[in-house]
Amino acid sequence: MKAREVTPKIQMLGAVDWNRTLFDALIPLPQGTSYNAYLVSGNQKVALIDTADPSLQDQLLEQLASVPRVDYVIAQHAEQDHSGALPQVMAKYPKAQLICSQKASGMLQDLLDLPANRIQVAADGETLSLGDLTLEFIYTPWVHWPETMSTYLKEEKTLFSCDFFGSHLATSQVYAADDPAVYPAAKRYYAEIMMPFRVPIQKNLERLAAYDIERIAPSHGPVYAAPLWIVDAYKEWVSAPPKNEVVIPYISMHHSTEMLVKRMIGALAERGVGVKVFDLTVADIGEMAMALVDAATVVVGTPIMLGGPHPLVGYAINLAALLKPKAKFAAFLVSYGWGAGAVERLPGLIEGLKVEALPPVVARGMPRQAEMEAVDALAELISTKHREMGFK
Ligand code: FEO
Repeated sequence: MKAREVTPKIQMLGAVDWNRTLFDALIPLPQGTSYNAYLVSGNQKVALIDTADPSLQDQLLEQLASVPRVDYVIAQHAEQDHSGALPQVMAKYPKAQLICSQKASGMLQDLLDLPANRIQVAADGETLSLGDLTLEFIYTPWVHWPETMSTYLKEEKTLFSCDFFGSHLATSQVYAADDPAVYPAAKRYYAEIMMPFRVPIQKNLERLAAYDIERIAPSHGPVYAAPLWIVDAYKEWVSAPPKNEVVIPYISMHHSTEMLVKRMIGALAERGVGVKVFDLTVADIGEMAMALVDAATVVVGTPIMLGGPHPLVGYAINLAALLKPKAKFAAFLVSYGWGAGAVERLPGLIEGLKVEALPPVVARGMPRQAEMEAVDALAELISTKHREMGFK
């Protein structure tokens, strides 16, 4: 794809990765992604903001074939999906200076073996003149690494935000416009990449509130021409209380755990509690991450297998804990054959979630009436807890 115009002074370069299905060898990308670079042309100097993933760097280099001069290459983030083509870009423009944050300087040398003498550190708040255009570098740590910065183009009121506000969405459109695919793609992106960093994101949002931003140009997904909605969405995802919702990831080998899960779904629904259920044999783990953005409670359904929870359940809990969701409560629905000792160790698995553990429901083999009634009682307890905490 050729360079595309964002404004007469800003071109979108980089690559749309229509076929990528996993990020970080972990995170599902059902709609692909893009690696956006931006060429900002002042009347005296030209800056390239970010590059592209090495797998598609040829596309960027092809676009740059018709760009005779780049004075500055801005590396907002050291992760290779944006920085990976820097060695080739810096080789193409031997007079260009690479500009990045203090922390990124060391990381770019470590990750890409870039020479220190090509790198110029920009301080937080420092500005760079391109003649009639001015770039301001704003340190925005933890979106998504500690070294990340954003860049504000004052005269065009445009924020280049790198991962921040991005979406894993392969599209030929430059602008998000009213494409209904953008909100879920941006929420998925937040859930999978950003959620663990809610506190610094909150601070970054507060800092950016001081800027007059008419356009946000992230390094994944389309540009936002009216960015208020994505900023407001981030505020809600980061700061709003959890919702009156329960996420139920589960595995069932011989339907016993499934019986408990189905009873729980019905019991919660009767009490007006929203439920999102994930059969981990087939679930898109990214969908589960999105559900965890909002849920107040996690109920894990698992059989005991080889002395512990099913391995897929262990994986899902580990991932959920890494994402640091807002959830306040968790419980287990368990069926076991003979390994009752393993049941006692289950609460230890959710310590990383930093939640209040509610009493589990445990069935030896197939659940009977007593266990089904225990599920109802657990649903009632969850509903009461949500109500008491004002979750809606
Ligand atoms: Fe899109 Fe953190 O890289």
